[in-house]
Amino acid sequence: MLETHSFQTRLFLKILRQAWFRPIAKLIERITIPGILLHYALRKKNISQLARAALVHGTKQLVVIGPGFDPLSLELHREFRTAQFWEIDHPATQGHKTRAFPEIDHQLFHFIANNLSSTALDKNALRNSGFDSAQPTFWIAEGLLMYLQPDIVSRLMITLKELSAPGSQFVFTFMEKQSNGRIRFHSQRKLVDWWLSRRGEPFVWETTRHELVESVRPWRILRFFNHDDLREMELELTDKPIARGEVICLAEI
Ligand SMILES: C[S@@+](CC[C@H](N)C(=O)[O-])C[C@H]1O[C@@H](n2cnc3c(N)ncnc32)[C@H](O)[C@@H]1O
Repeated sequence: MLETHSFQTRLFLKILRQAWFRPIAKLIERITIPGILLHYALRKKNISQLARAALVHGTKQLVVIGPGFDPLSLELHREFRTAQFWEIDHPATQGHKTRAFPEIDHQLFHFIANNLSSTALDKNALRNSGFDSAQPTFWIAEGLLMYLQPDIVSRLMITLKELSAPGSQFVFTFMEKQSNGRIRFHSQRKLVDWWLSRRGEPFVWETTRHELVESVRPWRILRFFNHDDLREMELELTDKPIARGEVICLAEI
């Protein structure tokens, strides 16, 4: 996507690949959210392992809500040729992706543009593109729900339940409520709070594990993964900082 989007993004990609950029990236991390790079990398690895496990065990439908520029579903589409994939995203974000991948097999991979803040998840668009709610589905909402108002999150949980056959799984991430009432990573610097509020992208939804058990019913929570669980995924990470605050939840119906 960076290669096809514009001259600036091609240049950015070149810079990212330079060895000299690494200490700069580390510095940027230190002055924004220490430990965030490792958090993102391990969050992605964890969710990709959960999705692969579901597909290996026979799930034939995978839907990513708010994938942004994440390549996960495209990678899985190349690997699991008998499964169907959907990406549901804000039209502004999705436009870049559809332009970058014109060669996608639209029999197996579907894009649905949907602004979830203004309209409910489009069940008809899903069904019209071959989605079968009688088949188990693996749903992903990674790094998304914190941008949506609480009533929209509740409505989304209900819609996904209505579309999910027994055996479906839902992996999502949430910001864990803090005692100071702020919705942010623990190590987040004030600079980031300011930047997010200027861009109009502040986090607006947070919850606790206890509240979630009730609010996601009839989804049953199978597991939470926090920074300590993510750390255990790699042996050599014992002394490396991993940003705290966003937790992964795996639920099933
Ligand atoms: C921080 S990105 C996360 C991208 C990806 N899931 C990941 O974890 O790498 C947030 C994503 O949420 C999507 N998003 C935010 N608000 C949305 C809305 N109102 N409707 C649909 N998608 C939305 C954005 O388009 C973007 O793809």
